[in-house]
Amino acid sequence: MSDHPNSDHKPDRLPNERGFDPHEEAAYADDTLHRVHQQLQREKEEPTEGFSPIPIFLLFLFGGLVFWAGIYMANNSGEFRPDIYNPEWKPGGGGNETAAAWDPIKRGDRLFRNNCAACHQADGNGVPGSFPPLASSPWVVGDEARLVKILLRGLQGPIEVMGTTYNGAMPSYGDNSGGAGWSDRDIHAIATYIRQSWGNGAPPVSEETVAAVRAEIADRDKAWTAPELLEMHPME
Ligand code: HEC
Repeated sequence: MSDHPNSDHKPDRLPNERGFDPHEEAAYADDTLHRVHQQLQREKEEPTEGFSPIPIFLLFLFGGLVFWAGIYMANNSGEFRPDIYNPEWKPGGGGNETAAAWDPIKRGDRLFRNNCAACHQADGNGVPGSFPPLASSPWVVGDEARLVKILLRGLQGPIEVMGTTYNGAMPSYGDNSGGAGWSDRDIHAIATYIRQSWGNGAPPVSEETVAAVRAEIADRDKAWTAPELLEMHPME
């Protein structure tokens, strides 16, 4: 047996064994440590088979979530209609769809809620001081080319709407740089929708009108200012 305490470490020796060389004390201490660790390890929770039950409140939580999702889908699915969801949709283009299925108001309602309501509000009244109203606004119910220009390029700088001056930025939905690139069909739908909602009673804006205005302003990239628009299309 070597004199060096570490050279003959015997892990299998029982730690409480007595009567061995006092030089082995270090090894003995190692063994004790080992044993205590084993004990500690045994005291940990045993791994179990099978699975533990879900806390009951989670069950209710998920149940409630599924229920809410169902109601949400029922209210907001737009009946999963292609003319509402697909911007490329053409009447008669898809199997048994008929021309009558295209409804610019339905499509416009969806576009409005997803794109404009955050600023102009669901009731079309805007936010005082920040976002001008669309309800009763002459910019909406007046000259259709002026309105289409706003939608295709956006607006910046001061604009007076029904006696109040706003000074913000209205995003572009046209095909200029930074524009959202909406089709003639969707611009026709949103323009028609805002002209006929919240008590507005202006005639629809046709897809052809949108196409003509788009061609006319093809060279223009920047957003409009209100005075520029009023110069081209004076307020009625
Ligand atoms: C990020 C906020 C924002 C979004 C989104 C937005 N607008 Fe605007 N809109 C404005 C602001 C701000 C003005 C005023 C611009 C200015 O001060 O020059 C404005 C002005 C207008 C105007 C002319 C003024 C009026 O009140 O009649 C029309 C029309 C309009 N927006 C329609 C729309 C439509 C339609 C949509 C969705 C397709 C839309 N806006 C999305 C902020 C927004």
